[in-house]
Amino acid sequence: MQIIHTISELKALIASYKQDARTIAFVPTMGNLHEGHLQLVSMAKNKADIVICSIFVNPLQFGVGEDFDKYPKTLQADTARLQPLGCDIVFAPSVDEMYPADFSGAQEQTAQSQIVAQSQIIVPWISDILEGKSRPGHFTGVATIVGKLFNIVQPDTAVFGEKDYQQLIVIKRFVKDLCFPVNIQSHPIVREKNGLAMSSRNGYLTEQQKQQAALIYQQLKNIARKLIAGNTDYVQLEQTASETLNHHGFRTDYIKICHPDLSEPAISKTSRQLVILAAAYLGSTRLIDNLSVELKQ
Ligand code: PAJ
Repeated sequence: MQIIHTISELKALIASYKQDARTIAFVPTMGNLHEGHLQLVSMAKNKADIVICSIFVNPLQFGVGEDFDKYPKTLQADTARLQPLGCDIVFAPSVDEMYPADFSGAQEQTAQSQIVAQSQIIVPWISDILEGKSRPGHFTGVATIVGKLFNIVQPDTAVFGEKDYQQLIVIKRFVKDLCFPVNIQSHPIVREKNGLAMSSRNGYLTEQQKQQAALIYQQLKNIARKLIAGNTDYVQLEQTASETLNHHGFRTDYIKICHPDLSEPAISKTSRQLVILAAAYLGSTRLIDNLSVELKQ
């Protein structure tokens, strides 16, 4: 396994793989890898000859006052976990490598505004609802870095987790709209034994909060059961779950029953497929989760 820090070195390796007609599967991450990430890498291993995993905490997708500065950076531990999975390349660039401050108009400005001064991928509408409503600019930051990484890595396939459901929809959207030649695959959410969706941000939680946090998934399952039983009062279901979470020490941002493509409202659709999405704060930690539901005919 090679650890590469520069775009030029990576591009040279990619060119040699392409020359040998070897296929590439790509798993973008922000590091601090857990079992959820590792399962994406194992899935990627079954999809192509070469697996590349990127580790880059992308400043562009963090808002002011969010956890960019404290986001855990654990490159050594991460590479040790990737090695036994047969990952071929870890791409771990610096912020300067991905966002060089060569935009003359932004010379006098802050690092963040220098980045913002560069070209970006904007996915309209879908980026502004749910997560995007609470985290303005987040999905533009995600789409921009993922698009940039796709152009560097030139993967045949890229694997994303369903944990970040809206992110997956945003990525599929710009890949389709802008004709990126990448096949997007998704992997189901990997959970702790108590049902809590694995996340690097779970590291911010105390042991007691980790037990408490499983309530989000329980509420999603509770809504799913009621939907399957024929309940169509979506607003009431959302409200009750939200109140239950708040009653147990969460600050719920949203619980929303949506159509799988996130077009709203779900109730206006005849589809039997729904997805329930939730975001809630436990202390200062923002947690997200979701559950797909198939209603009986
Ligand atoms: P990160 O949060 O590190 O997640 C990297 C990938 O792992 C994403 O596709 C995410 O959905 C997936 N993932 C995380 N936890 C998971 C879980 N419990 N089960 C299944 N998959 C899980 O998502 C990002 O980084 C960034 O936004 C990125 C796409 C790398 C762009 O910067």
